[in-house]
Amino acid sequence: MSPSCCSGKYSVALFFFILSAVPIAYIISSEKAVPSTHVISYHSSGFLRECAKWDDVGRRFLVSYMDGGGGIGELVPTKDSDDVLKEVTLVKDVDLAGNSSNGFVIDRHRNRLLLAVGDLLGNRYSALVAYDLSTWRRLFLTVLSSHSKLSVVSLLMSL
Ligand SMILES: *[C@@H]1O[C@H](CO)[C@@H](O)[C@H](O)[C@H]1NC(C)=O
Repeated sequence: MSPSCCSGKYSVALFFFILSAVPIAYIISSEKAVPSTHVISYHSSGFLRECAKWDDVGRRFLVSYMDGGGGIGELVPTKDSDDVLKEVTLVKDVDLAGNSSNGFVIDRHRNRLLLAVGDLLGNRYSALVAYDLSTWRRLFLTVLSSHSKLSVVSLLMSL
């Protein structure tokens, strides 16, 4: 192996190291900077939250769980501070386990939350589901698409 080959590899690695240091330094400096506005922190129990909306009547943020089999949670103040919120799960629908809870709207007029549910990785199921904003009882579940065994068999039969 010639020295020029190795020094070329090291130069490329050094170049990418320096290149990646610039955005990382920027992120660190903006995270450490004192914000100019009031900031509320939020401790999530999961990894991915698809949607967050302010519920003005309930005086809370509502979030949808993209990971962990889906669900809806609310953000409420902790005992220690009003500026640090914790997540409390309101809905964990067993009928939709394994699917992601995605975008939602608050339908204030009918006091309900409309949620788009889907199998994001397999792309085999999607639905629109509504929950009562006071009781969190499911009002309806409309399947938008699903690949049941029956539909696969009928699809194969039609070929
Ligand atoms: C999504 O929910 C449907 C309906 O209950 C279910 O048949 C399907 O297996 C779920 N998807 C996943 C990935 O678990």
